[in-house]
Amino acid sequence: MHQPESMEDRIAARLAEHVPRSAADLAELLQTPPSAEMGDYGLPCYTLSKYLHRDPNEIADDLEGKVGLPAGIREARAFGPYLNFFADRPMVTERVLGRIHRLGAAYGSDNQGAGKRIVIEYGSPNIAKHLGIHHLPSAVIGRSLYRIFQALGYKCVALNFLGDWGTSFGRLIAAVERYDVEDPDGLTVSDLQDLYVRYSREAAENPELQGTARQAFLRLERGEERATALWNGFKEVSLREFDRVYGMLGVGFDRITPESLYRDRIAAMLEQLRSRGTAVESAGALIILLEEEGLPPCMVQKSDGASLYATRDIPAAEHRWDEYRFEKSLYVVGNEQSLYFRQLRAALRKMGHGWADRMVHVNFGLIKFRDPETGQARVGSTRRGELLLLEDVLNEAVRRARAKIEENRDRFEVGADLDELAARVGIGAVVFSELSTRRTRDAVFDWDRMLDFEGDTGPYVQYAHARLCSILRKAGQDVGADVDCSLLAMPEEWALVRHLERFPAAVRRAAEEYEPSVIASYLLELCADFSTYYSAGMREPDRRVLCSEDRIRAARLLLVDAARNVIRSGLDLLGVTAPERM
Ligand code: ARG
Repeated sequence: MHQPESMEDRIAARLAEHVPRSAADLAELLQTPPSAEMGDYGLPCYTLSKYLHRDPNEIADDLEGKVGLPAGIREARAFGPYLNFFADRPMVTERVLGRIHRLGAAYGSDNQGAGKRIVIEYGSPNIAKHLGIHHLPSAVIGRSLYRIFQALGYKCVALNFLGDWGTSFGRLIAAVERYDVEDPDGLTVSDLQDLYVRYSREAAENPELQGTARQAFLRLERGEERATALWNGFKEVSLREFDRVYGMLGVGFDRITPESLYRDRIAAMLEQLRSRGTAVESAGALIILLEEEGLPPCMVQKSDGASLYATRDIPAAEHRWDEYRFEKSLYVVGNEQSLYFRQLRAALRKMGHGWADRMVHVNFGLIKFRDPETGQARVGSTRRGELLLLEDVLNEAVRRARAKIEENRDRFEVGADLDELAARVGIGAVVFSELSTRRTRDAVFDWDRMLDFEGDTGPYVQYAHARLCSILRKAGQDVGADVDCSLLAMPEEWALVRHLERFPAAVRRAAEEYEPSVIASYLLELCADFSTYYSAGMREPDRRVLCSEDRIRAARLLLVDAARNVIRSGLDLLGVTAPERM
């Protein structure tokens, strides 16, 4: 258990002493009363009637008399069926802003994960193919979870389970040989894709080619020199491309554990499954029955003796456990593999691996495009002119961001670094748009929407951050924590303080739910609060941050600096950069 930090947590902990609900549930129930005269936090007691078997007004009256008040709350008062709490605003403000000022970038971090490891597998593309837009979610969700868990004190390990093994590589080897490719080392990923398609087409007419491809894979499995050299070449050229494109997203890995790493363990594993009776023969194939778990069987060997996807995932999972003794082992892979991962986990459990319960399939939905005619979201198609290669998408994003900035030159303070800014904004827009949708739902890829500086977008958050930086630059004075927080008396200021206080809780919730979108939503709300505050200042000079009264200005600068700090940390957790000038 961690320290209760937000005011909601503190109040809920006191309420839990009198009400048969958990503090976490109670914290969720707390609302904001409609006006400041009615307090700062409200508990709707009608939600408790069914637990306490009493009238809500009575519950509120009764609790008013006996609930303990945490530091920072000066009064609890019943309003009909509500029990409302009044904060000592200056005190809470001082505590929150002081803490952020002291901790800086570490605000929101925690040590709940100290001494624990989290293995996160993401990316895991298959070689000899380009990265497509469908590879975007795994990369950015995985990378964001890596940062989130790291902030909570876990030691994270990012693995790339490269798809480099299987019969399709036999087909590619056969293709290179059949079409007498002159310089196999000079093949690009596009060439490999073309060769594969060409061979598959021919094989559909000429079944003999299927046999040749199978033979080629057997040669590879035996470690034959020529086949191995070709396969190594496929791998090298693919990895170079993957590095480049993942690099544009700022995504990297700690270790590549390719599927081929497990090929030598397969024979022993199958033997063990057979001898222990964990797997059984069925029509010549070897399967693990999972009826007890209500799942279809998991096949580990085909009737022709070939291994399958699961045949490599089992030893890979064991390897991760042997190597890292993880607290959790995450697999950031699309929804379409949900059944597969349930089978994999069940198979490992049946093999006696209790740690299989620590495996989490962090699933996600598809990326769709809006059909301009019907307005419906659907999967993309090159024929309709949609870019489907990840690299093309990212380049296009940068191009569009640049055009947008140039169009609105007067709103931006950029000079020679326009290229760099366009890259940060363009890529940030793509990443943020993916991470602001709850991951299990399909995300809609919409150029205009994701680059809208006024919408719920990455550029909007980046722009708010840059504006905060600009206020601090203009102030030209050091920000100190030694200010009179009672001078932050505007309701907009209190709203910001309350929101800032909730950042650590948002980070913890994002981790609990493996859900970066919690951070994205948090940031959008924070920026909206800031925007309201900023607009108030535009209307009245007295409400401006850089007002003429020194003591008020110093207090406001502390608030602005805290907001800047939190937005920056939040963007960092999402893997989106935060330019200081825009
Ligand atoms: N390479 C696979 C694909 O492209 C994804 C691998 C997912 N991870 C795993 N451990 N099975 O579909």
